[in-house]
Amino acid sequence: MVFVIIGHLMGLAFPKSWTRAVGIDDHAYHLIATIPGSIAALAVLLGFAGLLYRRLKNRSVFLSTSASDKVMYILLGAALISGSFATFTLQLFDLAGTGGYDYRETISPWLRQLLIFNIEPELMANAPWQFKVHVIAGFTLIAVWPFTRLVHAFSAPVGYTTRPYVLYRSRDERTTPMRSNTAWEPIRSHREQLEGETPSHGA
Ligand code: HEM
Repeated sequence: MVFVIIGHLMGLAFPKSWTRAVGIDDHAYHLIATIPGSIAALAVLLGFAGLLYRRLKNRSVFLSTSASDKVMYILLGAALISGSFATFTLQLFDLAGTGGYDYRETISPWLRQLLIFNIEPELMANAPWQFKVHVIAGFTLIAVWPFTRLVHAFSAPVGYTTRPYVLYRSRDERTTPMRSNTAWEPIRSHREQLEGETPSHGA
């Protein structure tokens, strides 16, 4: 995903004139975007399949899968599969034999204009359907992003350094009964806890 994100930044945010200015001609850009882009696409698809397999096969992970997780998996899969499909069919295998689709003339300026509230739909009108599907899938995923567990991609674990310990307790009834409100108290060893409680358990 790191390489996919770098690829999206390079292809969508930077105009052609910038890459030309640093000595990358259009053919070189196409090769850089297509070969590592296709390897990155294969890697994300494999990673996605691995995560999906774990979620379905690992019983506790499966049981903790919420409705929002299911929606998220469908939309994430749609974005990854449609993006990879577009790269494979239009760029890597170049089925039309035209040297690949130059999205930096259409999709990229369309997106940059959209982000500054200047809508230019004519730029997208003749884009291949693979890219249209991918952009719809991408934006739908971005729209639901904050309401799914994907939000954690943007949360810094700052509280982790100061939060209280997580206490794991046995459910075995034969062990000491759970005391209330211990979450914010310092950790004591099991023996110390037992010793501390002995008097109150007196006959
Ligand atoms: C909504 C705005 C988006 C636009 C305009 C967009 C555009 C593109 C373009 C033009 C390509 C082809 C790159 C190339 O072949 O050189 C591509 C590929 C791809 N996109 Fe997107 N994309 C968007 C969002 C997303 C999102 C949200 C994801 C996934 C979370 C995603 C995943 C992919 C993948 C996996 C590829 C194939 C690998 C690659 O070529 O980098 N895209 N996208």
